[in-house]
Amino acid sequence: MKNKPIPAQIEFRDVTKIYGQVAAVRNLSLTVGRGEFLTILGPSGCGKTTTLMLLAGFEAPNRGDILIAGKSVAAVPSYRRDQGIIFQSYALFPHLTVRRNLEFPLEMRGMRAAERAKRVDRILERVHLDDFGGRLPSQLSGGQQQRVALARALIADPPILLLDEPLGALDRNLREQMQGEIKGLHKEFGITTVCVTHDQEEALTLSDRIIVMRAGRIEQTDTPEALYDRPATRFVASFLGEANILENPGFNVETDAAQPSGTVAMLRPERIWVAAPAAPKRADANNRQSVSGTVDDMIYAGPLRKYHVRVGSSLLVVREPVASGQQIFRPGDEVRLDWLRSDLRFVTV
Ligand SMILES: Nc1ncnc2c1ncn2[C@@H]1O[C@H](COP(=O)(O)OP(=O)(O)O)[C@@H](O)[C@H]1O
Ligand SMILES: [Mg+2]
Repeated sequence: MKNKPIPAQIEFRDVTKIYGQVAAVRNLSLTVGRGEFLTILGPSGCGKTTTLMLLAGFEAPNRGDILIAGKSVAAVPSYRRDQGIIFQSYALFPHLTVRRNLEFPLEMRGMRAAERAKRVDRILERVHLDDFGGRLPSQLSGGQQQRVALARALIADPPILLLDEPLGALDRNLREQMQGEIKGLHKEFGITTVCVTHDQEEALTLSDRIIVMRAGRIEQTDTPEALYDRPATRFVASFLGEANILENPGFNVETDAAQPSGTVAMLRPERIWVAAPAAPKRADANNRQSVSGTVDDMIYAGPLRKYHVRVGSSLLVVREPVASGQQIFRPGDEVRLDWLRSDLRFVTV
């Protein structure tokens, strides 16, 4: 069965936000479908937080309009927008217990005490903090505080959840655990989610769709896999993962089709095989380019090894998963690199 198009829950129409001389967000148009998990990804200062602040109603656009469920929210104050929010700076109330922190949004909505208590119990259980209701935020670890923040954002069943770098402060293991948690909650509640982050891994693992932003504008929008596999621009290719940009590489780059003008060839490091010069060649001979090079550097990174290999005037990055019985190369070793021409991508400069 084909998916029906999801009705847009959130829409930005040509939105611009200017701070003094800086256009933090420029002519931004985007839609988020009901139940979709959209991530806005980009480097620091590209306008991610501003976009979220506009959506939350903490800032107003200079031009353009924002619609939620088809209606302009220009005149709707932030506390009426019915959104759960986790901002980096949107900390828990330090003087209130976990329970009181969670009750607060419900109290604001005029919910009765008995119903509030029931909801708090339920969400505490859901984020595995049943025994922590009586603690103050300062008596919790960073990860536990983050889970309370998540619980507080979700407790009033908002149709929209906004996350600003929600996992930035956590160490790697906790981050992965929380990613799983957020993903699970999103699936369970089907809540329309807009997340902003500069962390590509977070974006790739969590999102239905990613918008890559650069200097206040959208650079590319796509599913995680399409974005990684078919980046449209050099910026996206290099921001999302590692990219070998073959611009004047000092050797002939073989291509099947003519290279579109204004583009450069790009090859992902994991698409290159490294082998001893005389080793049998891999893969389809009709679709293969082989070049000779010299290992400049080898970096061991647990499950994979990264080689820097000098070919012509280029230093190519090659990633090889560590496997039993494979040959390991050292700086100075002569090697042959093979790749498939069909793995080359052309990205605009
Ligand atoms: N309140 C503000 N006053 C002036 N400039 C701001 C303000 N908020 C953000 N900016 C500027 O707008 C740009 C985008 O900022 P921001 O949206 O916070 O980026 P990001 O979240 O992607 O790091 C930056 O150049 C930043 O300095
Ligand atoms: Mg930010």
